[in-house]
This record gives sequence, structure tokens and C-alpha cells, in this order.
Amino acid sequence: MKILIINGPNLNLLGKREPDVYGDTSFEDYFSTLQFRFKNTQLEYFQSNIEGELIGKLQEVGFTYDGIVLNAAAYTHTSIGIADAVKAITTPVVEVHISNTYKREDFRHISYLSPVANGVILGFGLQSYDLAIQSFLAKND
Ligand code: DQA
Repeated sequence: MKILIINGPNLNLLGKREPDVYGDTSFEDYFSTLQFRFKNTQLEYFQSNIEGELIGKLQEVGFTYDGIVLNAAAYTHTSIGIADAVKAITTPVVEVHISNTYKREDFRHISYLSPVANGVILGFGLQSYDLAIQSFLAKND
């Protein structure tokens, strides 16, 4: 099982950024927890603040990996390019958000990715990533 977690803009600041919304753990630290927890799964992590790099990564792994966990962050609400990339690839994509975007500003209620994702998990803090990984593993039971 090969799963890639892709994080979009500003998620490199997790731990420092708005801790009341996103918590005080860096993604690097949380990623180690995930790797420990899912020892039999090949987990990889990629982060970029640049839309085109996120699209490039989706294209690069999107025909060979077993699953992609995608938190496109603010691009969720704006990017037709990322939505088209998700649509173009064959690897299933689970859209993830740390916060419950529906409890927040109206512009966060719109997702260009939800209609093309296999599923959506949001609002469970960093645990949203864990639940998304579990959703891929459950399919192989
Ligand atoms: C986010 C929610 C987005 O609205 C926001 O732009 C982010 C993070 C989340 O994980 O809760 O950067 O995707």
C-alpha cells in the first residue's frame, strides 16, 4: 500500500499558524506519529505553497499510488486546476481538512475538490488525516 499525503499552502506552518484553529503540532511531528501507527503502509508526505507543484505531484503519483490524502488548503476553494488534476488521475483521492470548514467563513463552504474526490473528511483536527488513511486500508480488508 503506497499512500501520499499532499498538503497545500500555509500548511508548512502547522504548529505556529493560528493554533486555536489548527493546533500546536507541526505536520512533521504528526507525520512521524502516522508512520509509526501505519507501519505496514508506505506513507509519503509532500507539501507545497505553489498550485502548479501540487498539480505536478498529483500527476506524478496519480497513476501508480494506491491513495492520495489531499489537503489543498486555500486552493480547495479556488482551484479548478487542482480539481481537473484529481479528475484526470486514476488513484483515489480523499479530501481532508483539519478544521470544520462549514463552521467557518462562507468562502470556505465551497470546495472545487469535493465533487471529484472519492470522499471528504473534515473537522477532526490532525486526526482527519488518520481517518483518511484508514479509509484506504478498509477498502483492502
Ligand atoms: C484547511 C481549511 C482551509 O479553508 C484553509 O484555507 C486551510 C486549511 C484545513 O485543513 O482546515 O489552509 O484546509
